[in-house]
Amino acid sequence: MKTLKSIPAEVFAKDTVAMVMKNNPPAWFSTGPYSTFMAIMYHMPLFVKDFNPSLLNKPISMELQDQKPVVLITGCSQGGIGHALALEFASKGCHVVATSRSKKTMKDLENNPRFFLHELDVVSDESVKNCVENVIEKFGRIDVLVNNAGVHCLGPLAELPLSAMEKTFNTNIYGPMRMVQAVVPHMAARKKGKIANVGSVSTTLPAPWAGIYAASKCAIHSLTDTLRLELSHFGIDVINIVPGVITSNIGHSAISNYNQMPELKLYKPFEEAIKERPNLWETSKTTPTEVFAKDTVAAVMKKNPPAWFSSGRYASIMAILYHMPIFVKDFIARKAKKC
Ligand SMILES: NC(=O)c1ccc[n+]([C@@H]2O[C@H](COP(=O)([O-])OP(=O)(O)OC[C@H]3O[C@@H](n4cnc5c(N)ncnc54)[C@H](OP(=O)(O)O)[C@@H]3O)[C@@H](O)[C@H]2O)c1
Repeated sequence: MKTLKSIPAEVFAKDTVAMVMKNNPPAWFSTGPYSTFMAIMYHMPLFVKDFNPSLLNKPISMELQDQKPVVLITGCSQGGIGHALALEFASKGCHVVATSRSKKTMKDLENNPRFFLHELDVVSDESVKNCVENVIEKFGRIDVLVNNAGVHCLGPLAELPLSAMEKTFNTNIYGPMRMVQAVVPHMAARKKGKIANVGSVSTTLPAPWAGIYAASKCAIHSLTDTLRLELSHFGIDVINIVPGVITSNIGHSAISNYNQMPELKLYKPFEEAIKERPNLWETSKTTPTEVFAKDTVAAVMKKNPPAWFSSGRYASIMAILYHMPIFVKDFIARKAKKC
């Protein structure tokens, strides 16, 4: 940090300790050069944050019309978002490589010539390598990668087993990164491609009882924003797909994972509220997967796809809440999650 103006660690420590020792410490504290400037930048629209004059002549994005695009989607089990995306991409004339951990969960697509089914576990290097190699051998290219596979994770952070945190991060963060690292060399060689990573609107508010899931999706949003800039040099568009509440199997699998965890101790009195969270998918009016898939595929297939695409139940209200002060977000999260 020789060229940047920095403040001595003692100065930073002095201000920070003074804040932490306050009777009512702030929820966030930031100081030092650039902290004010970066706080302003944080609220700027993406095209301002992304601006880089050297990219003005970036290679033209792929023309999806020129030949049938090859689309690889992770996590296509029936009933979920990936499955609906597979059907929608196929209806738009794409070759769809529908993948999931077991072909049994995609049985209904089995005899349909529009789909190439492949088993793929995104937490396994071997499985990712094997799948991508087979797709390249069959089609010679991958035009669109959709990193959709994901798991929910329920439980209070102070008691959640670290193994559950690792599994969530491995699936939701390293899984997409494994796929990116396997697919990008092929896209970069052709100077075209699209990568859509599925995040979540749950990142916009503090997320009691779902902190690890929300953290994994925050990470995906951030990684996607960075990939968008890093990969634009190779003609690859990168899109953050940010679903609202969509009908799927996710609530059910969240509860079944939770039931396999050790009994809560400190948080036992909150168990009812914790288990209520996945009921969101049972009790509230969720957006049907087909509707979400239709809008999402239309956005991804655009010649110049958006950097972020958010759709589905609560997507708009959550986008507004994102820009609220922390005390407002805390208030709403406490009420909604009975925390
Ligand atoms: N539904 C919503 O309201 C909502 C909201 C925001 C974000 N999302 C995100 O949308 C994506 C799709 O979720 P969904 O709602 O459709 O839930 P879902 O129905 O449970 O689908 C999740 C998919 O991911 C697969 N998967 C899990 N671990 C995997 C692994 N290690 N390797 C490969 N596939 C794996 C599942 O396979 P199995 O069938 O084998 O378990 C399933 O196919 C997820 O990233 C989720 O976080 C969903």
